Amino acid sequence: MNSYLLLGVFLIGVATCAELLTLPQNCINDFNMCIFKVHNKLRSLHFSPDLIVDSELQKKAIAYSQKMGVDDIFAHSTGLAALKMGENLAMSFNSQGYDMKSCGGLGKYFAEKWYEEIKNYNFNTHSSNGGVIGHFTQLVWRSSSKIGCGLAITKDKKAYITCNYSPNGNIRGRYNTNVFPNVTKYDKGEYNCEDTTDSFF
Ligand SMILES: *[C@@H]1O[C@H](CO)[C@@H](O)[C@H](O)[C@H]1NC(C)=O
Repeated sequence: MNSYLLLGVFLIGVATCAELLTLPQNCINDFNMCIFKVHNKLRSLHFSPDLIVDSELQKKAIAYSQKMGVDDIFAHSTGLAALKMGENLAMSFNSQGYDMKSCGGLGKYFAEKWYEEIKNYNFNTHSSNGGVIGHFTQLVWRSSSKIGCGLAITKDKKAYITCNYSPNGNIRGRYNTNVFPNVTKYDKGEYNCEDTTDSFF
């Protein structure tokens, strides 16, 4: 009886532990390039300087995306405040799976999803009109200077994305000096982050 119970517990443990796909290096490179370039493109519309890629932030982001994938959880990590690190997360499920030749598109898609929260942001009051704004405001936050992102994809077709930022944005009372209104509109279709003639780093 006891061993039967133990077996039951063991099976539950196995069932909640997802396996990760091994991503081809091209996929990782394209994802990193696109998510980085789209960030800086969007930041430029808001008069925020370019971010630079930080390898420590990137390592943490990859590890955290993988952890969310393996543990099948989607929640912010702990200890962000102590690290003065901002964290944007995204997750998707695609029943078709993902095209390993367009991981750049995945990076672009999620950065643009975060940016879409601009529609909830009130540039006069520097607060939300209703709805989430935190991913957008961290993305364009003027005094954040470094970024590191990571992608993980599970065998059950879930993609997890983490971007870490340093120093963190979204500091109360500082939105007016860190989130400037855009003077032009971002055109998704126009911006091709996979254009390899465009320089990266
Ligand atoms: C700023 O961006 C938003 C969202 O893309 C857009 O709707 C708006 O027209 C832009 N503002 C200007 C002045 O172009």
